Parts: sequence; C-alpha cells; structure tokens
Amino acid sequence: MSGLHRLVVRQVAKATQATGQVDPELLCRLMSTCYEELERDRKRVDRANKLMQEELEQLTADMGLLINQLRVQNVHFQGALDNMSQGLCLLDDAGRLIVANRRFLQIYGLAPKAALPGRPIEQILRDSMTVTRLQAYLALSRATQAGNLRQDLKDGRVIQIVHEPLDGGGSVDTFADITERTRADAELAQAHKQLVEISRQAGMAEVATGVLHNVGNVLNSVNVSANLLSQCARNSKASNLARVVSVLREHQADLGNFVTAHPQGKHLTSLLENLDRQLAGERTQVLEELASLGKNIEHIKDIVSMQQSYAVVGGIQEQICVTDLVEDSLKMSLASLNRHRVEVIRDYGDASVICVDKHKALQILVNLVSNAKHACVESGRPDSALTLRTGRCGDRVRVSVSDNGVGIPAENLTRIFNHGFTTRKTGHGFGLHSAALAARELNGSLTASSDGMGRGATFILDLPAQMVQSVQEPEVAHA
Ligand SMILES: Nc1ncnc2c1ncn2[C@@H]1O[C@H](COP(=O)(O)OP(=O)(O)OP(=O)(O)O)[C@@H](O)[C@H]1O
Ligand SMILES: [Mg+2]
Repeated sequence: MSGLHRLVVRQVAKATQATGQVDPELLCRLMSTCYEELERDRKRVDRANKLMQEELEQLTADMGLLINQLRVQNVHFQGALDNMSQGLCLLDDAGRLIVANRRFLQIYGLAPKAALPGRPIEQILRDSMTVTRLQAYLALSRATQAGNLRQDLKDGRVIQIVHEPLDGGGSVDTFADITERTRADAELAQAHKQLVEISRQAGMAEVATGVLHNVGNVLNSVNVSANLLSQCARNSKASNLARVVSVLREHQADLGNFVTAHPQGKHLTSLLENLDRQLAGERTQVLEELASLGKNIEHIKDIVSMQQSYAVVGGIQEQICVTDLVEDSLKMSLASLNRHRVEVIRDYGDASVICVDKHKALQILVNLVSNAKHACVESGRPDSALTLRTGRCGDRVRVSVSDNGVGIPAENLTRIFNHGFTTRKTGHGFGLHSAALAARELNGSLTASSDGMGRGATFILDLPAQMVQSVQEPEVAHA
C-alpha cells in the first residue's frame, strides 16, 4: 500500500460516523488539510533541493579552481625543477625514482625516457656513459643520514652530490657540477702560493733595504773618520822633520859646534822635543780614529753577515752591559753629533748585563741616535741636546733616546713606523720601520712620544731582562 493510499484510508476512517456512514463534508475538510500540509512539505523540499543544488554548483566551481591552481603549480614546480642549476632526483624508500629534473639528465648524459618514475636509480645511472664510483653513490643514496660525495666523472667533470633523507622515507639527492669551482680553487691556491713567495721576496728585499740603510748609517761615521785621518795626514808636523834633517845634513861636518854654538842649532833640541810631542799627539789621534774605524768596519761586516744568515738562523745572543750597548751606538755618531754641536747627556740608571742579539740592538739605537741628531739639526736651536737614559721597568731593561729637536705632531706618532714614511728631504723612511721590526725580533718593543712640534721627542726601547744581573751603580754624566 502506497503512502498516499494509507493517508486516504486514515482520513476516510476519521470521517466515518458511528452509523458507518462517511461524512463527505468532513472528509473534504480533512483531505484539504492534508493537501495543504503536503503542499507545504513539497515547498520545503523544493527549497532544500534548490539550496543543495546551489551548494553543489559552488563546490564544483571551487574544485575546478583548485584543479586549475594545482595544474599551474605543477607547471611552476616542473619549471623550477627543470631550471635548477643543480641536478635533483627524488627517490622512494626502495631507491626508485619519483621525479628527476632536466639538469640531472644533462649531468649524466641520459635520455628523458631513462628517468621514468618507478625505475631504480641504480639502473638509471648504469645507462650513463660517464658515471664512476657508482657503488659509493648507491651506498650514500641508501643512507638514513645526510651526507655528501665528490664524484669525478670519466669526462673530467667533478660532481658534488648531497644526500638528504626525507621524514617519511626516501630521499632527495642533489648533484652540482663543481668542475669550474674546483679549477678556480686550484688556481686560487696556486695564486696564493705565488703571493706568499712574492711577499717572502718582498720581505727579503725589505730586509736588504734595512741592511743597506744601517750600513749607510755606519758608513757616515767611517767617512768622518777617514776625513779626519786624511786631514791629520795633511796637517801633520812630520814634514818639519825633513827640514831638520836637511839643516843637520848642511852642518854634517861640524855638527857638535852647530848644535852648541850656532843660533839655529841651539834651538834644534827644543824644536825636536816639540816635534816629538806633536807627533805623539798625532799618533794618538790617528790610533783612536783607526780604532773607531776598525770598530765601524767590524759592525758593517756583522750587519752584512747577519743579512746573509737572515733566512737560515737567528742572530747570535751575546751578553752585553746595556750601557756599553748605548755607548757603542753613540760612538758611531759621536763625530757627527760634535760637528753639529749637539750636547750628549748620559743618564744611566741601570747597567744590567743583558743577553741579546747585539747587532740588532745596536742597529736600533744607531737609528734612534741618528734620527735625534737630524731632529736637533733641523730645529736649528743652539742648545740642542740628546739624552740617553737606561733604566729598569719591571722585567724589562729600558733605553730611552730623547732630543729637544723639531718634535713629532700627534698624527704622525704611529705613521713614523710605516715603511717608507719620512718627512726629511734626504730621508728614506726605513730606519724606524726596521728598528721596530728588530725590536720585535728581540721580543722587545719600540715606542715613540712627543709633546708636539718643536718640543722634542723620546723613543723608548724595552728589552727583556732575562739572565740579567746588575753590575754598576747609577751614574749621571755630561759629554
Ligand atoms: N727624533 C725624532 N724627532 C722628530 N721626528 C722624528 C724623530 N725620529 C723620527 N722622526 C720622524 O719619523 C720619520 C721616519 O723616521 P725613519 O728613521 O724611519 O726615516 P728617516 O729618518 O726619515 O729616513 P731614513 O730611512 O734615512 O732613516 C722621520 O722622517 C721623521 O719625520
Ligand atoms: Mg732615520
């Protein structure tokens, strides 16, 4: 029995009176109420249907949009994959290919059909004519940890492979052609090696310049000594002796009478005595100058041999009293200091014996004294003075060289140690640079200070005082 049939039967039953008669009026009313309800339900269903229809249409449109977006994304993804500068392949947990990009195929010279999804990577790479170390890569591609590998291909290219396992199994492996980079690295290493060699040569040239400079400093003193000696020879009273001899020869026959009675002969003894005194003085002067000359030549010899042994061994350590060191450096410039009337003040507060490469230390001090002399001469002041001090400063022996010359402006105080920095017309700018280097080689330090232009300068050389013993009480003296 259908639903409508049951409904009609129910309404007929409701409209049937006790007599069994059907009240047609009531039945009509009941049926019309039923119809109205049915009509209402139909309309509701229609509305619901329409809503559902609309929703379905919206969903279908959204889906179409999504599919479109996915298609575009896929194109982008493929485009990105294919335009990567590195090769890439995505493998599943059994080492089968999920996706590979164009660069991967290029690197291994593979046809697109070789890299079909689902093919084991081992098979794919066996198709390549250039692959080497395949087993090493297969081991890497199966590893559950990230890693990398350098692969030298048969055609000489070098590939850097980076293996990155994925969380859900499988991995993403990238392949970079680093042939150019490897070549550039090799060239860079070669260039670096050459640069090191060039700097070593430049360093040696710098040392040689320093040596020449120091030899030059000492040669100045040698020159002064040589001039003094030739002056001495020119002005020597020795020529007077020849005159005495010729007078004696004239009076050879009557020598006794001539010496005692002749007015000229009577002066001969005192004349000879005078001459003897003068010649003795000259001899002392010549000997002193020759000694200083010898010392200077010895120093030049040492500087040169130090340069020769520069690259091989370090300088020889010698024990020397710090004041002797200062005195030696003074001796090399004393003549020039005197010539320029620069007063030398010695203020020796320490006379320790230090163990030092004597010639290096001497080079430093000779440079400082020479610079101080130049600063004094340049200042033109009549009371020019150079003060040399020695002292102790903790575990260091300190030598300071001060002058009251032209001074150094604050902005130059660090620049003066630069190689080639000079403010002097005839300067080279090597002295302080090589002195600072030498101080460092002696494990010491060289510093400069000045209150500014026209107010003099002080240079302090600190040297390690190991193996030091004090031998003398302080002394203050003036030249
Ligand atoms: N005692 C000083 N007083 C003032 N300026 C100084 C003094 N000592 C050094 N200087 C400055 O430092 C500069 C560098 O000195 P450095 O000895 O290196 O070279 P230089 O004396 O100019 O030339 P050279 O290489 O022939 O010695 C000098 O030109 C000068 O300007
Ligand atoms: Mg100098």
